[in-house]
Amino acid sequence: MSGDKIIIFDTTLRDGEQSPGASMNMQEKFRLAQQLVKLNVDVIEAGFPIASKGDFDCVKNIADHIRDVRVAGLCRCNKKDIDVAWDALKNGEDPRIHAFLATSDIHLKYKLKKTREQILELAVASIKHAAKYTSNIEFSAEDATRSDLDFVCKVFEAVIDAGATTVNFPDTTGYAMPDEHAAQIKYLMGKIPNIDKAILSVHCHNDLGLAVANSLAAVKAGARQVECTINGIGERAGNTAMEEFVMAVRTRADLMDVHTKVVTEQIHTASRLVSTITGMFVQPNKAIVGANAFLHESGVHQDGVLKERTTYEIINPSDIGLSKGNIVLGKHSGRHALK
Ligand code: KIV
Ligand code: ZN
Repeated sequence: MSGDKIIIFDTTLRDGEQSPGASMNMQEKFRLAQQLVKLNVDVIEAGFPIASKGDFDCVKNIADHIRDVRVAGLCRCNKKDIDVAWDALKNGEDPRIHAFLATSDIHLKYKLKKTREQILELAVASIKHAAKYTSNIEFSAEDATRSDLDFVCKVFEAVIDAGATTVNFPDTTGYAMPDEHAAQIKYLMGKIPNIDKAILSVHCHNDLGLAVANSLAAVKAGARQVECTINGIGERAGNTAMEEFVMAVRTRADLMDVHTKVVTEQIHTASRLVSTITGMFVQPNKAIVGANAFLHESGVHQDGVLKERTTYEIINPSDIGLSKGNIVLGKHSGRHALK
């Protein structure tokens, strides 16, 4: 396996559930968490414990019973949220408190009505509070990609000093472009003096259809955790699709020089489970897990694949858990396929 390991932080149960109409009950979330363990993701974000009693119970149930993975719970930067998150998480295996606070001027002015100084103070106080419970603490600078980068550097430096071990740079609105996102990550890596004491993470949204591209660009620039969801579900246009990111890293290891520990043979099962549980069907032409992703309809392609699979397939279907690729007979098919 080449290069550094990329930490896969799966947020299907939290950001994924924020997809309109995708709510899951406790049994469904538990079943999905078990499948995420089979996939061998590194962190499962199980929910936002203070959001509702149901969310609290789901996070607690997963933290209490699921093993061989770190379970994270989301919270805002205030003591009550952090206390409730910890209460839900505390029986987990190395559980993670994930605290977020916006850093962009738009959010500060219109949503939070706070100054930059107040944000900095609140972030540090919150991480210090979380540090009383655990050293596994993630801080997310909400709307980071539209924030003043020097301010994000200042906040990240301060929260790392206060005890954060992962600092996340979310593209909350899906606004970033790949080159720009890579440059932002490079800037943070070069500017934050204590960045070697934390993992730099990215969390991309797909409003411009660029979440996977942005995540890959960020990793090439130095990010070492990627937040993602199965089938790319999530708030609005969704998040980085885990299966696309993981298979891109694996298929283009020659360019990426990093690896993940995901058991890719579990991808197909995980995708089907998410669409069954949420009722969000996967578009047929979706990369990796769409029903057509390994189908060949044209005669020229069928002839090629029947002679040698790699003529038209860059991924072996068995690598994602499909027993075989498929030839489908249609109006463009030829004699070789029919035979
Ligand atoms: O999109 C976002 O900014 C988030 C954070 C809470 C990480 O989901
Ligand atoms: Zn998000």
